[in-house]
Amino acid sequence: MIKIGEAERELLKEASKALGNAHVLWGFSVGAAVLAEDGKIYGGCNVESWVSGLGICAERNAIHHAILHGNKRIKEIAVVSEAKNKSEIKPCGACLQYISDFAESPEIKIVMAKAEKARVLFETVKVKTLKELFPEPFKK
Ligand code: THU
Repeated sequence: MIKIGEAERELLKEASKALGNAHVLWGFSVGAAVLAEDGKIYGGCNVESWVSGLGICAERNAIHHAILHGNKRIKEIAVVSEAKNKSEIKPCGACLQYISDFAESPEIKIVMAKAEKARVLFETVKVKTLKELFPEPFKK
């Protein structure tokens, strides 16, 4: 297990709280939490629609939550998921672009873990930098 600090544990716990509110119709529950420039943590869950493409991922909702409170930069993000397949416990490409749009640097940590019934399974935690997961974001 990768050693994580108190900041990461706190983010993961907030992400799993958010996961408890996920609106899931056909997929699985996801929760995210961002540490914003104001030093506060903002959560978000995925929201699905019967019309595919209308729903939104947990990460982008967490970022919107931070923006709503006046933040334009994020310092770290955690994502937890009830996905059965390990490869799905990470931000999707669209969310990686979004994280990159608002990240204070390409070095910010992305903390990922599996959750069950909104409880973080700490033995599954993985930590990567944004740059590692998304080395070439789109930018004008
Ligand atoms: N999902 C997220 O919330 N974040 C991601 O990065 C990837 C996928 C959601 C979308 C959909 O509601 C469910 O997880 C996958 O079926």
